[in-house]
Amino acid sequence: KKDVKIGLIGFGTVGTGVVRLVKSYQDDLLKQTGTTIQIERILVKDPLKNRPLSVEGKRLTTDPTAILDDPNIDIIIEVMGGIEPAKSYIQRALEKGKHVVTANKDLMALHGDELLHLAEASGCDLYYEASVAGGVPILKTITDGFSSDRITKMIGIVNGTTNYILTKMSRENVPFERALEEAQSFGYAEQDPSSDVDGLDAARKMAILASLGFHTGMNVDDVTCKGIRNITVDDLAYGKQLGYTMKLVGIAKRDERGIEVGVEPTFVKDTHPLAAVNGVYNAIYVYGEAVGETMFYGPGAGELPTATAVLSDLVTVVKNIQLGITGKNKSHTYTEKILKEDGD
Ligand code: NDP
Ligand code: HSE
Repeated sequence: KKDVKIGLIGFGTVGTGVVRLVKSYQDDLLKQTGTTIQIERILVKDPLKNRPLSVEGKRLTTDPTAILDDPNIDIIIEVMGGIEPAKSYIQRALEKGKHVVTANKDLMALHGDELLHLAEASGCDLYYEASVAGGVPILKTITDGFSSDRITKMIGIVNGTTNYILTKMSRENVPFERALEEAQSFGYAEQDPSSDVDGLDAARKMAILASLGFHTGMNVDDVTCKGIRNITVDDLAYGKQLGYTMKLVGIAKRDERGIEVGVEPTFVKDTHPLAAVNGVYNAIYVYGEAVGETMFYGPGAGELPTATAVLSDLVTVVKNIQLGITGKNKSHTYTEKILKEDGD
């Protein structure tokens, strides 16, 4: 294929970053893939909204069929968020033979298995690197990088908004509500920020990590979850006096008795590297039986970091199209899901 046509679903924080990067990296993308990547149409809710980036008016649409039913569109990038209508749009795209790249953890943590099976049955690719840890390429790392090892445990900070809030509260005594408003103004928070502050966004990401890392179909409902809503500046100051920093920590581990995944606010020793992960940054320790301890760190949210993750999936899909090997991503499920009972 000489050129690949994209339908972009969503033109908010992440969608804007994707359009910017496709434009600025056009030459590099051409060199890597031998293909010109063209964003054909962009689905939005409100076409009259003021946007930080202007595109020709004809490219914006409010009609999903203008993208999903256009036979010229090869790949859908879904950066709209939420379960519906995103799920129906992705299903329809796959059924029509279009490949999909998404940043949607809500959807992948709840219906990932179903969608991945549909993709495989349709001979299509479905990639979702941006759904976990923004600009940190952690999904490729645990699927490709750890394909020669057996992951036993993943621990880390996987939500940028709450890490931003906790950093501001603990270092500058900024109250919770103001810190959240700041995170929202940078585009870090979810549309409903209670997903961030109540730990659900991190729980979704841990479900995705556990599914890929342990090759099983983990669902967000399998993850225990506590957020940071009730944490006060005083709690954090008290911890500091004793040499501890509070972080919202996700943990996924497995042993011979099963798998355990959870998210909760945790005091970590000031000397621990996780205590030094500040602002919107994320960090994930991955433990392999053979390699031992590894750590991955970088911006966990925001326009351009997240767009790099989307774009790297896009490059993978375009290369797969060129090689004729789409729809063959089997990394997700081949071991049985055995959850540890409470108190195990
Ligand atoms: P935004 O809220 O900034 O943008 C959402 C976009 O989707 C908007 O352009 C909106 O249109 C459009 N949209 C929403 N609902 C509809 C609908 N029913 N029909 C048509 N268009 C619709 O979201 P983000 O860019 O922040 O996030 C997008 C996805 O990426 C989410 O799944 C999020 O969880 C994920 N993500 C976000 C990160 C971040 O840092 N923000 C990081 C990693 C993942 P309009 O502009 O007209 O309102
Ligand atoms: N709201 C999410 C976060 C976006 O703050 O981490 C990135 O997934």
